[in-house]
Amino acid sequence: MSDYVVQPSAQATGSIRVPGDKSISHRALMLGGIADGVSEVTGFLESEDCLATMRAMRVLGVRVDQLGPQHIRVHGAGMRGLKPAAHALDMGNSGTAMRLMTGLLAGQPFASELIGDASLMKRPMERAAAPLRLMGAKIETLGGKPPVKISPSNDLRGIRYELPVASAQVKSAVLLAGLYAKGATEVIEPAVTRDHTERMLLGFGCSVDAAHGMIKLEPPERLQSCSLEVPGDFSSSAFFLVAGSISRGGGLTIKGVGINPTRTGLLDILALMGADLRVVNHRSAGAEPVADIEVRPARLKGIQVPEHLVPLAIDEFPALFVAAACANGETIVTGAEELRVKESDRIAVMAKGLKALGVDCDVLPDGMRIRGRPDGQVFEGGTIESDGDHRIAMSFTVASLRAAGPIHIKDVANVATSFPRFVTVATAAGLNVSEQSE
Ligand code: S3P
Repeated sequence: MSDYVVQPSAQATGSIRVPGDKSISHRALMLGGIADGVSEVTGFLESEDCLATMRAMRVLGVRVDQLGPQHIRVHGAGMRGLKPAAHALDMGNSGTAMRLMTGLLAGQPFASELIGDASLMKRPMERAAAPLRLMGAKIETLGGKPPVKISPSNDLRGIRYELPVASAQVKSAVLLAGLYAKGATEVIEPAVTRDHTERMLLGFGCSVDAAHGMIKLEPPERLQSCSLEVPGDFSSSAFFLVAGSISRGGGLTIKGVGINPTRTGLLDILALMGADLRVVNHRSAGAEPVADIEVRPARLKGIQVPEHLVPLAIDEFPALFVAAACANGETIVTGAEELRVKESDRIAVMAKGLKALGVDCDVLPDGMRIRGRPDGQVFEGGTIESDGDHRIAMSFTVASLRAAGPIHIKDVANVATSFPRFVTVATAAGLNVSEQSE
């Protein structure tokens, strides 16, 4: 088990880069794997979650060459070229990998089984299995949880599906299965969720229309390989957007970050709280918009977070709760019950950690109420149980900028699921964090 020991530091300062986008890296492996031809992917995230997807695609017969740091070449097997795996595919800690692979494998003429680590084995999978069954897939879960067992299927049919929860993973699972279905597949979203699958499918030559909350996919004969440049992960930049905002001096520039508007709800939320943010140097990486983000310290104020921004910031709430603790007045988050079924119950685990550091907060069924303190040292030193959740561990690291004593964060190995070299990047930004293995 490894832990972080984080000493208080006064300033976040400098210019940093965060590693590649996790959602886009998973999708590049999957779509590249079933395309015709070779897809070159630069900026690929070599994190544990994406490596789980890479291993799974290899077991299914896709050749993936690792050419250098963050640079891979995926030799597509073609839409009908995947081979059965001899054993269960282990998706590690990754809900995205498991749900998207369920969609991809639902229409294959061979059986598959998906398993994961202790956290993933407790997460809900029926949300993906249920619409796939409506398409004709034969999928079993164990009381709604993994293992996910998928029987061979040659005859999926397109459906029109209204998502009961705003989930890009479920939307993507249905669209991936839709590639193998007879007839068009339509997904209706209750709220906008990240659209990387739709954007990338277009790049691979598949016809996808998205308008007014409805996404329609016509099954293609084939996908054509393409080159992809993966931007920096906005969700990894989130820790530094909060760090720069709560810092007592300095300021940070985060370079080359993906700013797809379906991901950047945190920018809007922080702006409402009075943060000093500038998005500059706009450019694009293929289908995805990219920019540099500059953040300077600001006196934040507590707000009621607008619920329509919740799905657009769904992975950023652990970091946002730290910002809220440093804001003047009360911040209220509601409509975020999805946080309870992430890598941990992020409402319960964050509230426990905040309270351990002396923050005044209440747990709500679907969010949290935090009474912030804008001045001085907001957090006492103390010990945090991360519950093995990468984003909890990184969020409390950032709290050290306003801490009165050291923060000891337990069980941080899973930071590598999304942010390899976090300690190096955090150190470059002025934080004083060291990793200790027991
Ligand atoms: C993801 C979708 C989101 C997000 C996850 C990545 C994706 O999950 O929390 O980290 O890549 O599609 P949900 O679809 O469960 O909201």
